[in-house]
Amino acid sequence: MRNFTYTIRNYDSKDFEKLAQLLTEVQELGRPYCLFSSLDLFESLNQSDPSSKNNLFIAERSGEIAGYAEVKPELKIGRAVLRWLVHPRHRRGELTARLVDRAVDRTRELGIMTLHTNISQDSFTAKRFLIRMGFTFVRRFLELRLDLAEMVLPEISKIAPRCRSLQPSEEGRLTQLQNRSFAGTWGFNPNTIEEIIYRIGLPNSSPDDIFLIFDSDIPVGYCWTRIEFWRKKAPGEGTGRIYMLGVDPDYRGRGLGRQLLLVGLSYLKSKSLRVAVLTVDSENKAARVLYKSVGFKLWKSSLWYEKRLD
Ligand SMILES: CC(C)(COP(=O)(O)OP(=O)(O)OC[C@H]1O[C@@H](n2cnc3c(N)ncnc32)[C@H](O)[C@@H]1OP(=O)(O)O)[C@@H](O)C(=O)NCCC(=O)NCCS
Repeated sequence: MRNFTYTIRNYDSKDFEKLAQLLTEVQELGRPYCLFSSLDLFESLNQSDPSSKNNLFIAERSGEIAGYAEVKPELKIGRAVLRWLVHPRHRRGELTARLVDRAVDRTRELGIMTLHTNISQDSFTAKRFLIRMGFTFVRRFLELRLDLAEMVLPEISKIAPRCRSLQPSEEGRLTQLQNRSFAGTWGFNPNTIEEIIYRIGLPNSSPDDIFLIFDSDIPVGYCWTRIEFWRKKAPGEGTGRIYMLGVDPDYRGRGLGRQLLLVGLSYLKSKSLRVAVLTVDSENKAARVLYKSVGFKLWKSSLWYEKRLD
C-alpha cells in the first residue's frame, strides 16, 4: 500500500506538543520499538541548534502527526544516530520505510557514512524492519536495575570524603573529565562545554545531581545522576538513573569508581527513590563487573544496528 495521503516534511518548533503527545501515546501502548524517552525528545528538540530542524522529519496526515524520524549527527566520531517513531495506527504500508529513507538521505547529505539506531531487544518487528532497510546488528546494551529500598547506604561524606557536588563554573572541568574518561568508548561523542551546560540546565537536572571526586584540587572521577519521571514529578516519584560514571584513566583500579557509584546511589536514595537504573555496553567488562558487585541485575537489553552508507 502506498502512503500518498501522508506528507513528509521538516520539523517546525510548533510541532513539539503534538510530537510529545505522540511519544506518550505510543509509550502507553507499550510499543515504542525504538528506544528513547520523552525526556530524550525534549532534550534533543529544545537544544538551540538551528540544524535540528533540517534533521527531523515529520509524517503528517490531516493535521495529525503520524510519526517522525530524526538524525542526530555526531561528527567527531563520524556517525549519526537515527531515532524514529510511527504510531501503531499508521504502521501499515510503507510509512516507516519512507521516514527512515528520508533520514538516510539526510545522513548522506551531511557527509556521514555510518548510521546507528537503538531498538528494544524484544522487538522482532523492528529487527526485521532494520534488516530489510540494510542495517546490521553491531552492539548489545544492557539496562540494569537495582532495588534501592533494599540497600543500606551510608551518607555521602562517609563513602567518599573527597567527593562533593558540582559547583558553579566547574562545567569546563566536568567536560574535560567526561571526555577523558570516556575517550574511545563505543558510541561516545566528545562533548563541548556548551552541551554540558545545556544538559545541566534541563528541567530534570541540577548541579546537585553531579558528584566529583578529587585528588588534591583536581577532579579525577564523577558520577552524574538523574531523576527520570513519567509526567508529573512528586517527591519519591520517578526512577533514579546513574547517567554517567567515569574515572580518569590514570586513576582507575583504586576504588574510585565504586565510591562514586555508591555516592550516586546514596544520593538517589536520599531523594526517596526506590529504583535505580543504568545503561551499560555489554562489552564494557570493568563497568559490568562493578555494577553486578553492587547488586544491579539485568532488566532488559537493547540492540544497536548500523547502516553503512558508502
Ligand atoms: C567503569 C569505571 C568507572 C571503573 O572505575 P575504577 O575506578 O577503575 O573502578 P574501581 O577501582 O572502583 O573498581 C571497582 C570494581 O570494578 C571492577 N573492575 C574495575 N576494573 C575492572 C576491570 N578492568 N576488569 C574487571 N573488573 C573491573 C572490579 O569488580 C572492581 O572491584 P575490585 O577492585 O574490588 O575487584 C572506569 O573503568 C571508567 O571510567 N571507564 C570508562 C567510562 C565507563 O565505561 N563508564 C561506565 C559507563 S556505564
